Amino acid sequence: MPAGDTQTFDAIVIGAGAAGLFCAGVAGQLGVKVLLVDHADKVGEKIRISGGGRCNFTNRDLDPRQPHRHFLGGNPHFCRSALSRYTAADFIALVQRHGIPFHEKHKGQLFGDRSSEDFIRLLQAECGAGGVQHWQPCRVQAVRHGAQGYEVDTDRGTVTAPHVVVATGGLSIPKIGASDFGHRLAQQFGLRVVEPRPALVPLTFDGEQWTPFAQLAGLALPVRIATGSKPSTGPGRSGEMAFDEDLLFTHRGLSGPAVLQISSYWQPGTPLRVDLAPGQDVPAALADAKRRSRKLLANELAAFVPSRLAEAWSQRDAAWQRPVNEASDKALAALAQALSNWELVPTGTEGYKKAEVTAGGVDTRELSSQTMESSRQPGLYFIGEVADVTGWLGGYNFQWAWSSAWACAQAL
Ligand code: FDA
Repeated sequence: MPAGDTQTFDAIVIGAGAAGLFCAGVAGQLGVKVLLVDHADKVGEKIRISGGGRCNFTNRDLDPRQPHRHFLGGNPHFCRSALSRYTAADFIALVQRHGIPFHEKHKGQLFGDRSSEDFIRLLQAECGAGGVQHWQPCRVQAVRHGAQGYEVDTDRGTVTAPHVVVATGGLSIPKIGASDFGHRLAQQFGLRVVEPRPALVPLTFDGEQWTPFAQLAGLALPVRIATGSKPSTGPGRSGEMAFDEDLLFTHRGLSGPAVLQISSYWQPGTPLRVDLAPGQDVPAALADAKRRSRKLLANELAAFVPSRLAEAWSQRDAAWQRPVNEASDKALAALAQALSNWELVPTGTEGYKKAEVTAGGVDTRELSSQTMESSRQPGLYFIGEVADVTGWLGGYNFQWAWSSAWACAQAL
């Protein structure tokens, strides 16, 4: 383009991640003249590293009528419309049309059989079919609204369009291109932003408190993990959130699916409750062992939890470092209770360097749930993770990216 010329598009999509690529492709195929701009060197980096390199691209268990079951945010019902209009089944059909083999792993989670690259190629092919112009790497310096609609200054000159779609994602993994651009742009136009925080993130513990467990780094086991107020027997709703998943010990704290899931709900300063032997009647089993066994308690515990954990656990109390038949009933009851209700207060999270997503973002009260357009600033849209919609681990965040992108594309 000769210097000084301003190119005009129907829509400028900023951010070529999951949501931006999909929105651009869908809109392009609807006849919209789209420019897609991204500042990163490589396209779709987060898709590339997702799902351990296999991309957990959606979840069969997602029920759009009950979005609060798998999504958090100021208004968990905000995503209902978009999720109902472009469903997991719709994206699965697209994946099948592209001949990408996939499988279900766990709790409805769908992964590619080969590599995440398949999904990046799918999105690029959809953009190609829609005649999308794609400038990458290309920085966006400023966005203004004037008589011509939106004017966007980029490294390759100023471009104009009546619609700007912000798909710049959250703050997680800054080294592959994450930025707060979308939040800043929202604020520039007077939109409220819910304070961002790392979510789906490992939790850390105080050095001294963690010393006995640091040696367990690498150990994984199935647990039930909970946070929030415990269910009460009286009327009223409990604020407890719980997950039955695998927990992983790390050098600095806890990770694994159980902890990533609960981290999105955990409030700083509050405890987590972990049942290390879920579904097992530890008190009865220890009482029985006391009658028939002379083994060390650590050895008996190894029937419920991995032996490394049983060993470390029994070191926590002198009353637990003896043969089971010599342990007092009180010590056995305390041991069973500690194992099934391990209460511990994280000191923090591993932060955006390790977080899979960012909770918070552009306040959904500012956006139309039908189109993702700002009600305050017509023609400005926010899709994907930049908005205050956060999914559970398990393909829910990509499905939000696809659904919000599709809903927006229909309106451009
Ligand atoms: P996304 O982050 O994908 O894209 C944003 C784009 O905007 C990027 O390309 C970035 O370069 C660009 N950008 C940012 N600032 C810009 C600026 N100033 N100017 C121009 N461009 C800019 N989810 C899931 O459902 N299943 C999974 O398996 C996984 N796995 C997973 C693993 C890991 C390690 C992480 C970190 C995350 C996941 N996720 C996931 C989450 C998922 O990757 C995430 O929710 C989506 O990618 C969000 O899509 P968006 O398009 O909104 O943002």
